[in-house]
Amino acid sequence: MAETPLAFFSVYLYNALWKSREVRIKSTCAGIYSEVPYVQEELPLDRTQVVLPAGAIRRQEEFTRRMAAFFDRAPRRPLAMVDTYGCQQNVADSQRIMGMLRDMGCGFTQDPYQADVIVVNTCAIRENAEKKVFGVVGQLVHAKERNPDLVICLCGCMAQQEAVAARIRHSYRHVDLVFGPQALWRFPELLCGVYTEKKRVFSIADEHGSIAEGLPVVRESDVRAWVSVMYGCNNFCSYCIVPYVRGRERSREPERILEEIRGLVEEGYKEITLLGQNVNSYGRDLDKPMDFAGLLREIDRIPGDYLIRFMTSHPKDADERLFAAMAECPHVAKQLHLPVQSGSSRVLKAMNRGYTREQYLEKVRLARAVMPELVLTSDIIIGFPGETEEEAMETVSLVEAVRYDALFTFIYSPRPGTPAARLPDPVSREEKQSWFDKLLEVQNRISGERHRAYVGETLRVLVDGGSGDGQWPLSARTHGGRLVHLRGDGSLTGRYVNARITGSNTWALFGEAL
Ligand code: SAH
Ligand code: SF4
Ligand code: F3S
Repeated sequence: MAETPLAFFSVYLYNALWKSREVRIKSTCAGIYSEVPYVQEELPLDRTQVVLPAGAIRRQEEFTRRMAAFFDRAPRRPLAMVDTYGCQQNVADSQRIMGMLRDMGCGFTQDPYQADVIVVNTCAIRENAEKKVFGVVGQLVHAKERNPDLVICLCGCMAQQEAVAARIRHSYRHVDLVFGPQALWRFPELLCGVYTEKKRVFSIADEHGSIAEGLPVVRESDVRAWVSVMYGCNNFCSYCIVPYVRGRERSREPERILEEIRGLVEEGYKEITLLGQNVNSYGRDLDKPMDFAGLLREIDRIPGDYLIRFMTSHPKDADERLFAAMAECPHVAKQLHLPVQSGSSRVLKAMNRGYTREQYLEKVRLARAVMPELVLTSDIIIGFPGETEEEAMETVSLVEAVRYDALFTFIYSPRPGTPAARLPDPVSREEKQSWFDKLLEVQNRISGERHRAYVGETLRVLVDGGSGDGQWPLSARTHGGRLVHLRGDGSLTGRYVNARITGSNTWALFGEAL
């Protein structure tokens, strides 16, 4: 590898840091299936070790160049397929993987039979998500039979679990590369290893995680962009796999976030969503005084016609400082996703959520007091182990009391290795389903009513593309994030327009561009 002395020094420094870090990880980090602390870890990681030195990224760029030279010798331009499951964090990660593949010279396809490289970016949040991925990956054996040179990669949250990696190793032998979310930045090196050593590569070491700046990116929209402000989670909600697969909480330096957003606004992006599993923890691990409310205020100073959204806010940390910043910053959407999970204080305690029903309701009251127009959404889990019908109905009554604009509802799914998976769970699936149906019925009525209240109003909406529907050819979003099926001209795409709302249903609004 041709290195300048400085780059060489950086690589040396990086290797030294990485090695010392590995030792520390081995001695302190709980394995996925071992006992884990049932309390929030107060563990600011050492920043000098968390933020990767520039040399580490330059080294990956060198692997990208090697891959580009290798692909350059192929008879035609190689095609890559990136298949993404899970949350927005995974979508954002896939855009980085696509950036690296593009820099290697790849074009993109959605057809596995056309692809030379396939990357499946997976989600482990519920059993169904995992089953789906195993189905998809199983089917890829046919593409490999047709093209033995095809390289199949599995990454994301599922890949970080030892049991999944073992199953892939033994039963899905057509998969060439497996790496977890913390190893994403090393994708060029790992892929290079597969091609040059002609061996299967598994990189799923249990890592606290690092921050890699300056990775390339392919953003799939010209209008909306995702910006991660932090990675990982320290909350260890008792049902949740995320802290085990995404490592410890780590915040990006505010300067780097501001720089990225400034660039996006200059490029004409109209809607930027800040991502983190719990954005309200932002800044706790930084060497300088900064929190999420402060970050919002800094971002808001960037001039331009754009909107900032963010997710997810943890209710235990959402406070008046955040609500005030939201209310006072014109660029920040008056939209809050505040997952309550349950309306029963007993269940919330068993979930290790860190707030009671009453405390949650008080936060909603405080937020609405400063933002009467707030669009509020939530996540709910029905059928947590030991939940009674009475407790599930407490959740229904909370939903009635809060009157959310929309809800994301899930039936509890045990995740091996999490504390809740060890609790007795005597209630049948059928009974849980009946509670779930009741919750849905109540929320659908409320969503319908809230949507109907918009009819007759004129709202400023962002047109984000065609809908494929002849009657309502455009799709748009209100500032609060509600979906609008719109009549209007295709040239409006990417622009803010005023829309008169003429109709509604449970899920969306209908309107005319003015
Ligand atoms: N960090 C976010 C949520 C991440 S996961 C937060 O704290 O709110 C998205 C949602 O999936 C969660 O809010 C929860 O409602 C749901 N979820 C997580 N683990 C689950 C499990 N084991 N079974 C069912 N739903 C689950
Ligand atoms: Fe973290 Fe959210 Fe999972 Fe809780 S539900 S552990 S806050 S990712
Ligand atoms: Fe799934 Fe991982 Fe997101 S488990 S929900 S893709 S953080």
